[in-house]
Amino acid sequence: MQHAMQIQILKDLIRSVDEKQTCDAGRVVVNPVASYTSEALAKQEWDTFFANHPQMIGLSGELPTPGSYITINDFGIPLLATRDADGKFHVFVNACRHRGAHVAAEARGEQARFTCPFHGWTYRNDGKLMGVRAPEQFGAVDKACLNLVELPAVEKYGLLFAHPKIDGTLDVDALLGDLAPELETWQFDKAIYHGETVLDMPVNWKIANDTFGEVYHFSTLHKDTLANLLHGDVATYKEFGRNHRICLASKYLDTMRHQPEENWSVTDGAVVAYYLFPNVQVVVLNRMIALARIYPDPKKVGQSITRVSHYAIPHIAAHVVDSGEIQKLSGENLYQIDTTSRIEFNYEASAELFISTVEHEDYYMGTRSQAAANSGLVEHFLFGRNEPALHHFHNNYRAALGQPPLAEYRP
Ligand code: FES
Ligand SMILES: [Fe+2]
Repeated sequence: MQHAMQIQILKDLIRSVDEKQTCDAGRVVVNPVASYTSEALAKQEWDTFFANHPQMIGLSGELPTPGSYITINDFGIPLLATRDADGKFHVFVNACRHRGAHVAAEARGEQARFTCPFHGWTYRNDGKLMGVRAPEQFGAVDKACLNLVELPAVEKYGLLFAHPKIDGTLDVDALLGDLAPELETWQFDKAIYHGETVLDMPVNWKIANDTFGEVYHFSTLHKDTLANLLHGDVATYKEFGRNHRICLASKYLDTMRHQPEENWSVTDGAVVAYYLFPNVQVVVLNRMIALARIYPDPKKVGQSITRVSHYAIPHIAAHVVDSGEIQKLSGENLYQIDTTSRIEFNYEASAELFISTVEHEDYYMGTRSQAAANSGLVEHFLFGRNEPALHHFHNNYRAALGQPPLAEYRP
């Protein structure tokens, strides 16, 4: 992010903290709970946003070197994403052209070639069929026509995108719109993959998304965890077409505001969280990124799968100057100070704090909301003036499905 924008956001947050104000959607809206329980709607969403829509599958660091691969089974078809010997990113249907077995079985790894476990056909990581075992027995085949089926795939701004349809349109700049220049400044291609955690929870995928969209719950639900690190009830909010950005105020801001502005770094004083339509949350934290991809369970409207990938971001400046202060704030051992007084960031502890908070606090509360919706006894939920990201998220998908925007609540 450009430094001038970082300063602007940090100043906005300082003012919000001082004035006890937050972002304001200007009205309260009503969200019918059928949004979380309707099987017909879930089917429409699956077809529109997952089976036939471009998907962001991670940052470039998922495939760090030529030969890296990952397998994906999140939106209906088994996929194999690779980085070939020339560094080019590909996405294939993970299905052997003989009789359809998965050519790659592991979640991730590094391989120049994939040998099908069924009868041993071999493919290069650029999809080319290299070998048919025992061809004298099998019979003649035209190998050039039996490469892995390749899908549209684009790597741009350090983000990996795929389209689940062979003839699907994949225009990353159209998807990101006005947000693209800002995302480019983060140089996400330099983020280093650190691990992944999967949460399979009884919450509709939109309830899962909702938990990322507001800070109204911080000082209550997260009072013993994140509220130690972040100011509750304070956020800046900006829309970029169907995407948006929320910035949360770190308590370290209280120290940082007395330092010279040229030393300010937005990741020291704030958490910057982007929502990318339809189902991705990119949370830029101090020294790491947590990227959450949230998928419906296509068989169960009240169930979803969240994949959270963690990345280290050593290329993004962090100017934490008061180590005592930061250690005091991080009751979770997020930082360790070594014998030379250098601050060492503890990625495992930070990822663990993020995931356990999401699972045991945010999503746990989401399961309560889901149960209320399932009961059929609660007609609607409310999204407050201080929850504009929820208005935006729901109105986006509603517009895409031809539904009217959420109605204003009239007390
Ligand atoms: S299915 Fe792959 S070699 Fe037969
Ligand atoms: Fe939360």
